[in-house]
Amino acid sequence: MTSASDAQAADALRAGRLVILPTETVYGLAADASNAAAVASIFEAKGRPRFNPLIAHVADAMQAEALAVFDDRARRLAEAFWPGPLTLVAPVRDTRAVCDLARAGLESIAVRVPGHARARAVISAFGGAVVAPSANRSGRPSPTTFADAVEETGSSAAAAIDGGPCAVGVESTVVSVLNGRVALLRPGAVTRQEIEALIGPLDTAGEGHRSPGRLTLHYAPDAPVRIEARERQHGEILLGFGPGVGDPRWSLSPSGDVREAAAKLFRLLREADRERPAGIAVSHIPNDGLGEAINDRLRRAAGFVG
Ligand code: TXA
Ligand code: MG
Repeated sequence: MTSASDAQAADALRAGRLVILPTETVYGLAADASNAAAVASIFEAKGRPRFNPLIAHVADAMQAEALAVFDDRARRLAEAFWPGPLTLVAPVRDTRAVCDLARAGLESIAVRVPGHARARAVISAFGGAVVAPSANRSGRPSPTTFADAVEETGSSAAAAIDGGPCAVGVESTVVSVLNGRVALLRPGAVTRQEIEALIGPLDTAGEGHRSPGRLTLHYAPDAPVRIEARERQHGEILLGFGPGVGDPRWSLSPSGDVREAAAKLFRLLREADRERPAGIAVSHIPNDGLGEAINDRLRRAAGFVG
């Protein structure tokens, strides 16, 4: 598939077609958020259960506040981290701009202003909100390169934009700001520590169980994934972390940098899977900063409940 222009992508969205859209986190499969038929074809293309709502992507915070009701803390989070890898879940304001199916009929809505300039350019050229789940088929690792996105869902898209490899490599941090309570629904590149430094302690009661999309087996390659591995077992590929651990070709970060590991995580899981190993083992990764998001995805890939 060749890369489309921003105008071609916007035209495809207007025609109710799907577009592969680069973001700084992972590649998305985008549609006009107000068009229920277009949104239905996203669920179809991904094999995604319809109870799992989508994120509305917008060009700026003003457009976000036209869709959602922000309180003071939501506004501070938006000011600090947008454009960037943060999704805010807040009460829905405009129920037409983002159709019922996209919101899975909820009273809340997820919104984000992506950090990738091409994503914002397409959204601006289109003029409305764009829903975009990760461009993988449901349950599989998210694509972080143009080639991986096209391989996953390219056959369902009318246009695709090559925005290069995704700088962050794991999906956005999802934070809900509802009824005066702020909770972390999905860890990501905007870390718990950064959020708490800005708005104070997060509400941790029931954390991780409030997002309908947090299915148990998720982000998973075909090969079984074994985490916290000390060494490679027979037939396995070991994704190492830190100096001298395993084959450098398969290292998430030879220097032990969690940002580098996040950027490589899904690409290496996919590449390892193509070798048809008996299993994919992954070294221990510290839980600080982006490590929390990496470990969250790996636990789910390995089949553990969050
Ligand atoms: O980085 C990202 O967020 C990527 C790129 C493409 O923007 N998108 C992405 O979308 O990861 P998706 O659909 O794969 O994940 C959206 C997550 C799901 O876990 C979903 O359940 C949750 O956001 N979500 C959406 N609306 C919600 C709502 N109203 N309440 C709670 N969780 C919600
Ligand atoms: Mg996803």
